[in-house]
Amino acid sequence: MSACIDLADPANQCDPYPAYAWLREHEPAHWSARLKMWVITRWEDVQRILQDPVRYSSDRFRRIPPALARRRPDIEDVARVLRDWAVYRDPPDHTRLRGLLNKAFTPRRVESMAPRIQCVVDELLDAAAERGGMDVIADFAFPLPATVIAALLGIPSDDVPRMKTWSDQIAAYVGGAQAGGDTIDEAGRGLAAIVEYFRELIRARRGEGEDLISLMLAAEDRGDMFTREEVVSNCVLLLFAGHETTTNLLGNGLFHLLRHPQQLALLRADPRLMPAAIEELLRYDPPVAGKIKIAAQDLEIHGRPVREGDLVAIMLAAANRDPRRFDDPDALLITRAPGQHLAFGYGIHFCLGAALARLEAQIALAALLRRFRELTLLEQKPRWRPQIFFRGLATLPVACA
Ligand code: HEM
Repeated sequence: MSACIDLADPANQCDPYPAYAWLREHEPAHWSARLKMWVITRWEDVQRILQDPVRYSSDRFRRIPPALARRRPDIEDVARVLRDWAVYRDPPDHTRLRGLLNKAFTPRRVESMAPRIQCVVDELLDAAAERGGMDVIADFAFPLPATVIAALLGIPSDDVPRMKTWSDQIAAYVGGAQAGGDTIDEAGRGLAAIVEYFRELIRARRGEGEDLISLMLAAEDRGDMFTREEVVSNCVLLLFAGHETTTNLLGNGLFHLLRHPQQLALLRADPRLMPAAIEELLRYDPPVAGKIKIAAQDLEIHGRPVREGDLVAIMLAAANRDPRRFDDPDALLITRAPGQHLAFGYGIHFCLGAALARLEAQIALAALLRRFRELTLLEQKPRWRPQIFFRGLATLPVACA
């Protein structure tokens, strides 16, 4: 079957879990000829790679595969912005940039967002109640995190809709299957527009306010060794990471709860289960299905020779269903004892926004269930976005009463 495993196949994109299960059991280090990368699926391997930045580099955009660079010289424009993202840097640069982000993104700032999150949630649900239904993705799961991260960054709320187009363009490339010509074009357009937007915003911003941009600029002024381009680039990262992923958590999470009425009933009966339910939803169908690392030296994984420079895709979604780590992994059980899911990664790149994503999801899902006693899926097989490394629905129409 190995030869038939193609994660880019539309069928596998709708439900990649049977393919992951096969790979986990039979070829835990699988060379995908289609993706031109190794695909790693067992929890233990994925976790080991995540905590080994020496052997597995995150610097995916500094080391563009030569064949791709020859075919698409314009990839350099895309890479120039992406390679400054903390998520794609290795120590010591990563340590420096993560320090910049940590200074701005403190737990206190995250907690202080709760009333604002509640307010946005209530407004969005009012609108859905009036209409008797909504597309959960377009009308709820996208606008909520986008509005919240925009508020944190100090972006005017009128500009949020524009962010959607740019962010989708970047996601199609970053979350896709790497080499598609169209997605590079799109990502280039999205990144150029968003970088220009932030440059302009930063020019006007200098020296005021408590928003993340002002806090990062203050660090730059103190001589903390960040270039202006690094600040701009990491603003783009925050905006992008701050909403694509949480949109997927809300969409995937609600979809799976509605398909598991017993679990939903448990949660409705005891809302204190919400934090555990969110963790289980993150495990069961994580918004970031996989990450791409690069072998920084010649290595061997499960007896397979991995050469320096090879791309290594670590599938967080496959690891989260590994029966070696989780009992009955394909069951959604919101009362499951916590095991360590890898939805937010692990090690030095552990998600900076995990606390914010959890807070948003808890407030949003709790309010949604309180507000509507009846939530009905209008499509049993909604469309998934055609991405391998992100996992999210394109639309999720529901009726609510
Ligand atoms: C459910 C929502 C989210 C999920 C599933 C998620 C997932 C992840 C994962 C898997 C990584 C590790 C990447 C790696 O090892 O290469 C990561 C890193 C990161 N995330 Fe998130 N994320 C979410 C929400 C957010 C939010 C709301 C923000 C910011 C506002 C954010 C900002 C970041 C940043 C800046 C990094 C890079 C950290 C570093 O490289 O040190 N994420 N995220």
